[in-house]
Amino acid sequence: MKRTVVVAAAALLLGAGAVMAQDNLVKQSQDIMKANAKNLGGVLIAMVKGEKPYDQAAVNAALAQLEDTAKKLPTMYPASMKGAKYEGDYSASPKIWEDHAGFQAKIDSFAKVVTEAKAKIKDLDSLKATAPGIGKECGGCHETYRLKNS
Ligand code: HEC
Repeated sequence: MKRTVVVAAAALLLGAGAVMAQDNLVKQSQDIMKANAKNLGGVLIAMVKGEKPYDQAAVNAALAQLEDTAKKLPTMYPASMKGAKYEGDYSASPKIWEDHAGFQAKIDSFAKVVTEAKAKIKDLDSLKATAPGIGKECGGCHETYRLKNS
């Protein structure tokens, strides 16, 4: 009897641990996505629109963060995250795990565009020519693999 209680308590603790790990990963991936939006919209597109002056150091820093995202994306949605609860406006679609190859293809395509952008963006004209293509990659993944919370 005593043993059953101990085992049950241990199982409960393990369960709680898994949920806490999920919460941490949700927060991490949301923070990364928010940083992506800040760097794409608040830095690169803001310069394209003339809301901010062109600044190569700021461009490089924004692209470095996006490149870092591309590296992290393959680990941001492990199988243990399937069904995790995302607060806020968006969740991870189950399609991430159902069509893992398709999801990885979106990551690869995003990574390629960001790496190319790093080589191409040298001034405002090349930024104008390149930044929208990065935005397309974000949208291309979101379209299939991100869900709007109802
Ligand atoms: C390979 C897929 C993929 C790529 C590429 C991607 N995202 Fe996301 N994004 C997601 C998924 C899945 C979610 C929902 C789950 C989450 O928040 O982690 C999301 C959520 C978001 C959110 C909402 C975060 C929140 O607080 O709820 C924003 C903002 C966002 N992405 C911006 C971007 C921007 C900007 C880019 C491009 C620079 C980008 N994402 C590239 C898959 C991607």
